Amino acid sequence: MKVCFSKWALLPLLTLFSLVTAQRGTEPPFYLNSDSLLDITPANINDLVYNTSYVTLLEFYAPWCGYCKQLKPSIEKLSDAIKKKNLPVQVAIVNCDDASNSMLCSEYDVQGFPTLLTVTPKKLSKIAGSKKASKKNYNVEVYKGEREYKPMLNHLVAKSKKNIKIIKDFENFYNAVTDYNSSLAEKPFVVQLFDAKNEKSKKTAAIEEVLETTQTQFANSVRFFKIQMESVTSKVFGLCKGNNSNMLVGSFCSEIMERMVQAVPMNNLLMLFDPKKDQFSIFKSQKYDSGEKENNRFKNLNYKLTSWILNNVDGENVRLLDGPFSAKKDLLEKHTFKNKYRSKNKNKNKKKPQKKADQPLDEL
Ligand SMILES: *[C@@H]1O[C@H](CO)[C@@H](O)[C@H](O)[C@H]1NC(C)=O
Ligand SMILES: *[C@@H]1O[C@H](CO)[C@@H](O)[C@H](O)[C@H]1NC(C)=O
Ligand SMILES: *[C@@H]1O[C@H](CO)[C@@H](O)[C@H](O)[C@H]1NC(C)=O
Repeated sequence: MKVCFSKWALLPLLTLFSLVTAQRGTEPPFYLNSDSLLDITPANINDLVYNTSYVTLLEFYAPWCGYCKQLKPSIEKLSDAIKKKNLPVQVAIVNCDDASNSMLCSEYDVQGFPTLLTVTPKKLSKIAGSKKASKKNYNVEVYKGEREYKPMLNHLVAKSKKNIKIIKDFENFYNAVTDYNSSLAEKPFVVQLFDAKNEKSKKTAAIEEVLETTQTQFANSVRFFKIQMESVTSKVFGLCKGNNSNMLVGSFCSEIMERMVQAVPMNNLLMLFDPKKDQFSIFKSQKYDSGEKENNRFKNLNYKLTSWILNNVDGENVRLLDGPFSAKKDLLEKHTFKNKYRSKNKNKNKKKPQKKADQPLDEL
């Protein structure tokens, strides 16, 4: 693997390194081309990396390292594409050349640059329920794949799907929600009907993708089912004609049967059930506009889905960890490399402009 060795690993060559670092004062801020990269420090790692439902790609880098410079465009492209598509993944960086991060870099045993790690939630419900942010709730692994945009993206997306469980069969769904003893009977749940036979339209694909993100953001405090239309239409009469004292299943059944009788298309029908409130609601997605810029399309749909859910459930046990309505939004904004470096730089230049040139020497 192509890496630059960290200066900590090469202490005997310290004198050589002071020459290198003395020139560093002229290095421009490293990651200004991206709008979304999170700049991680010991002070914010718990809030940003260990209190999220998202998968994090964590890069430890040094601005002077040639391999980091090589990787930089792929990291920036990755981070911005993920944000644009609203995927439940984030990209974060740690500058190991900054002395205030040196404990962090040694804690993660960073020997060379760049070092890439993936941080994946072990169990979403545990993270949502825990009072203290903890590394123990996550798997931290070294990423050894290709350092290119596409392989990194595929790797992260595959990891983010680990916590998403999908029930495809109507009978399994029916049994799960009619069993009053199951924990499902207490949690709100969303059901999406999908048609496996027809090719996915752009709309269907977008809804599916955004639903996965939304499910992750709710950290399994809301459950999501994705049931095949075929399974519903072949079993709905048999299962629904019984004496249904379960109000939620009752509403589901009458909604489906009415649509079947009137031949109203049901693909993409999204329904929300809250057993606590005895509430049943249907998502009105007519406003979905495929002409919208991709950037806004995913975000807007996520926004609409989240508000639809929040407005129709008993919020007591619902936890929203990430996304457009979460408390974290402003925090993320504040800690992007771009925003942080810009504002810091502005203040510094105003107050003590001479400080910047001195800094690299202080680090050794
Ligand atoms: C995690 O983040 C959420 C939302 O931003 C916040 O309400 C919660 O207190 C945080 N939990 C911990 C353990 O920091
Ligand atoms: C639910 O649990 C109770 C007590 O644990 C048990 O007596 C009952 O049979 C269960 N009901 C079903 C439908 O499994
Ligand atoms: C349906 O079940 C409820 C209770 O489970 C009962 O009170 C009612 O009489 C039943 N209705 C019919 C038509 O069987």
